[in-house]
Amino acid sequence: MNADVFTLFPQWFEWFRGQRHVENAIALGHEVEAVDFREFTPLKWGQVDDTPFGGGAGMVLRVDVMEAALRARYDVDPVELRSERRVIALTPAGRLLDDALASELAAEPALTLLCGRYEGFDERILEHFVSDEVSIGRYVLAGGELAAMVVLDTVLRKLPGVLGDDLSAVEESFSEALEGAPEYPHYTRPAEYRGWRVPEVLLSGHHAEISSWRRARSRERGGGPGGASGGSLPS
Ligand code: 6GU
Repeated sequence: MNADVFTLFPQWFEWFRGQRHVENAIALGHEVEAVDFREFTPLKWGQVDDTPFGGGAGMVLRVDVMEAALRARYDVDPVELRSERRVIALTPAGRLLDDALASELAAEPALTLLCGRYEGFDERILEHFVSDEVSIGRYVLAGGELAAMVVLDTVLRKLPGVLGDDLSAVEESFSEALEGAPEYPHYTRPAEYRGWRVPEVLLSGHHAEISSWRRARSRERGGGPGGASGGSLPS
C-alpha cells in the first residue's frame, strides 16, 4: 500500500506515523506520506484557498492549487490520476466509512487522500480529480486530517502482518466473519473479580461451544451492517 495524504498540516501525521500498527505497516514496506500541498501552490504568499463565489462564510480550496500539487506528486494530469489510483476526498457528506469500505480500500495498491479545511473543496476538484468522497460520520470536523487518520487507521490494520495476530482483524466487530455484527464480549484474568464471574463456557476449553457462544453473543448485540448509521448533517 502506498498512501499519500494531501494536507496543510503534514506535521499532524508525524504523530500518526509513530503509532505501533502504522510503524509496523511502514516496516513491512508500506508507505504513508503526508504531502504539504501549500508547497506546490502557483500563487503568491502560499495561498491555497479563496472566498466563495456568490458570497458566504469561509474559504474554499482552489482547483488550480490542487491540480498543481497532484501534478507535482504524480507527474500526470489529475483527471487521469483517478483511473490509476483511488483519489479520496474527505468530506462530511461523503460515503460513510464502514468495515466494508475499509476492506475495499485495504485491497488497493495505492490511495491518495485529500484533506480539506474551512468550507471545503471547490466542487470542480470533487468532480474532475476525485474517485471517492468519504465521511467518517454525520458531523462536521474542522478539517479532513482526523478523518484521513481514521480511514488509514482502519485500512492499515487490515494489511497482512500489520497487527501482531492476523486473526484479530478477521473475526472482529462488523466483519464479514461475524456477519456484520458487533464483536462478542471478551474476558481475561482474573476469572472472578468482586463476585463477577467470567462465563463458565470460556473456561471450559471446549472450542466448538466457545465458538457458538461467541456467535450467539455477537448476534444478540445485533446491529448488522449500517445498524447505527443514518441521520443527517447539520446544515
Ligand atoms: Cl471526512 N471531513 C470533515 N471536515 N468533517 C467530517 C468528515 C470529514 N467526516 C465527518 N465529519
